[in-house]
Amino acid sequence: MPHAGPGGWAIRGRSLPRVPRTGIMRAMTEETFSPIRWTDKGLELLDQTQLPREEVWLRCRTPEDVSAAIYRLSVRGAPAIGVSAAYGLVVGLQSKPPGQEIRARFAEVAELLGGTRPTAVNLRWAIKRGQKVFDDNVDAGEDAVIAALLEWAKAVHAADIQSCRQMGAFGAELFSSNDRVLTHCNTGALATGGYGTALGVITASHGQGKISQVWVDETRPLLQGARLTAWELERLEIPYKLVTDSSVGALMSRGLVDRVVLGADRIAANGDVANKIGTYTVAVMANRHDVPFYVAAPLSTIDLDTPTGSDIPIEERDADELRRVFEAKISPADAPAMNFAFDVTPNELIAAIITDVGVLRAPYTESIAKAFEGHD
Ligand code: MRU
Repeated sequence: MPHAGPGGWAIRGRSLPRVPRTGIMRAMTEETFSPIRWTDKGLELLDQTQLPREEVWLRCRTPEDVSAAIYRLSVRGAPAIGVSAAYGLVVGLQSKPPGQEIRARFAEVAELLGGTRPTAVNLRWAIKRGQKVFDDNVDAGEDAVIAALLEWAKAVHAADIQSCRQMGAFGAELFSSNDRVLTHCNTGALATGGYGTALGVITASHGQGKISQVWVDETRPLLQGARLTAWELERLEIPYKLVTDSSVGALMSRGLVDRVVLGADRIAANGDVANKIGTYTVAVMANRHDVPFYVAAPLSTIDLDTPTGSDIPIEERDADELRRVFEAKISPADAPAMNFAFDVTPNELIAAIITDVGVLRAPYTESIAKAFEGHD
């Protein structure tokens, strides 16, 4: 039975379609699995806070449902946040209280959604483009502007599938044969509209026989690696081993890591990268041990308005996320704690940025500016 919960209405017991097991079937259908779906009843999001214990879908009826789902990480990962926000704008207009002026409603919804997660720039990217679609269609009437926004949101979702494919293809060129690759956080189908950024590169490379094993670090505090990346790799039947975050140095010093690939929440115009806390530590270790360190992200994650990493706002989350694992308390109840969700890796530690328009190399200010030629 559906029940109300924070961030929407939960629908339990519906299984996700399993990813087919091998070869070409897998390649054809990876992206049919998405944690975001638009149905005849509206927006539904897979509640990632429950994974891998349970597959629960949240039905979002109001923009408050969508913003709560984004804030509490029911839906997470920069591209997936952008796609959800695009649909969230539609939900916001569809649930407009009678009598409220539609422009005021749009502004209210955009502010609500835009305030949920400050670091992931795909959120702002989606809202800015949604505003233009709204402005271009609002004079045609409420039904017309909602229809135009929905069509646009579906196009954003579809474009993300394509952009993951492109990153996968470009990224796989960088891998050799039987590589042992380390990744951090979750950057797969759960974090995007398609089959993933860094995890998409891993999937594509594995499909070409270039990866023998993936090292998955846990990614404390919310365990996106242990809970989500491991879950995805099992579904994809890609060999992996789970390690603690603190194992990264030991693995590299023993020569057990050939490459690192991970994602980004925002890339500054000079190539500095904000990503899940711990990324910087992995980058320093990789450089110490001459392990190529790659970042995979679409152009929508690169923010030309942010000159350097020190200009990126870093989200700080509730300290309780550190004091608990699921419901279990793991520290003194009121242990003082600091919970940065992201850190910044300076561009000089990055061997390449794999985007949906190609692989970028240092000097990044130049290569990023060039990548945007012909794109907005
Ligand atoms: O806090 P999260 O789980 O949203 O953080 C996600 C990440 O840091 C990912 O690496 C990033 O968003 C890229 S996802 C393709």
